[in-house]
Amino acid sequence: MPPAADLLTRPPRLPLVAPSILSADFGRLADDCGRLLADGADLLHLDVMDGHFVPNLTMGPALCRSVRAALPDAFLDVHLMVTDPAMFVAPFAAAGANHITFHIEAVEPAGVEPLIGRIRDAGMTAGLAINPPTPVERLLPFVESPDLHLVMSVNPGFSGQAFIGGVLDKVRTLSPRLRPGQRLQMDGGLSPVNARDVRQAGCDVLVAASALFGLPREARAGAVDALRGGPSRL
Ligand code: DX5
Ligand code: ZN
Repeated sequence: MPPAADLLTRPPRLPLVAPSILSADFGRLADDCGRLLADGADLLHLDVMDGHFVPNLTMGPALCRSVRAALPDAFLDVHLMVTDPAMFVAPFAAAGANHITFHIEAVEPAGVEPLIGRIRDAGMTAGLAINPPTPVERLLPFVESPDLHLVMSVNPGFSGQAFIGGVLDKVRTLSPRLRPGQRLQMDGGLSPVNARDVRQAGCDVLVAASALFGLPREARAGAVDALRGGPSRL
């Protein structure tokens, strides 16, 4: 198991910054990602899209395997935006993923707990994501089950979209219901401008693509600190 495998679940629950590699330069991906980790980012977020659940195609297990080979100590957080997430649990586990998040919209209620179990049985932590139009009540029956809840702050499919601030109400609903050790992640349109509101609402894993990879390399360390709310690092 890679060394960082307990990153999400070990105490203390300090804010983590997760660059989404969707906006990295794919021609020099390992270098771009390695530098951001050296600049203070805590983990890498891999956005997997199948052209059905969302209107875009991105990356699969082969790319995950390459990132794992290049960065053996990195924590790899796989965000599945696909219609059949169960199909991809074993391939991403074999490709070196540490964590898989799947969408509540993609799975029947009776399938949620079994899929979380399947992800854990494969040696990873499990997350449950919710899209902006989906009521938070869909998550509540499962609130204590996953290791992480992902509240989407854009409609998934593309980086560079505008932040939907209304989803912070979902975070405020979920946050007091979490058990110790669970994480709340937000993804979409995050930047140093809105990061404080996101953290204050209760999120402790902040995903950002364009707010990091869209900057010149020398400016990225400062943006990581700004997203986290200070230079502290686990
Ligand atoms: C959206 C993806 C996000 C996206 C974030 O569908 O799940 O992870 O890459 O991009 P930014 O930070 O640019 O909104
Ligand atoms: Zn994502």
